[in-house]
Amino acid sequence: MTNEELMQKAVDVSKNSYSPYSKFPVGACILTDKGNTYVGCNFENGSLGMTICAERNAIGNAIANGERKVKAIAIYSPNQDNCTPCGACRQVLHEFCERDEELEVIVKVGEELKTYTLAQLLPESFTL
Ligand code: THU
Repeated sequence: MTNEELMQKAVDVSKNSYSPYSKFPVGACILTDKGNTYVGCNFENGSLGMTICAERNAIGNAIANGERKVKAIAIYSPNQDNCTPCGACRQVLHEFCERDEELEVIVKVGEELKTYTLAQLLPESFTL
């Protein structure tokens, strides 16, 4: 599974986003340590605080299928280049990776893909 293929799945699932309030669709696709992929999109609610981000939707999908380790996640919004995960989703990614330094976060900048590690996006992360 290439980064380009992961991103294509994130692009495709962003079309299913339910985001009538923000009008900010997001799609995400996770690659797990078992080599499987799981997608998610954001879905909003009239009670705005109940919104679920694309990343956490994808993670929940992976967890429900028995997965525990995320190797990479591609994230896409048609509205914004370099659409990195929000702070809450960074912490949730931390929960389900082997090492922050090894989890790749892939975003789109123009036609190019850019890769961060979770360690770059969430330095000094909290673990219970
Ligand atoms: N959103 C995501 O799905 N992922 C992010 O990392 C940032 C924000 C969603 C939540 C909300 O539906 C919309 O984007 C605007 O914040």
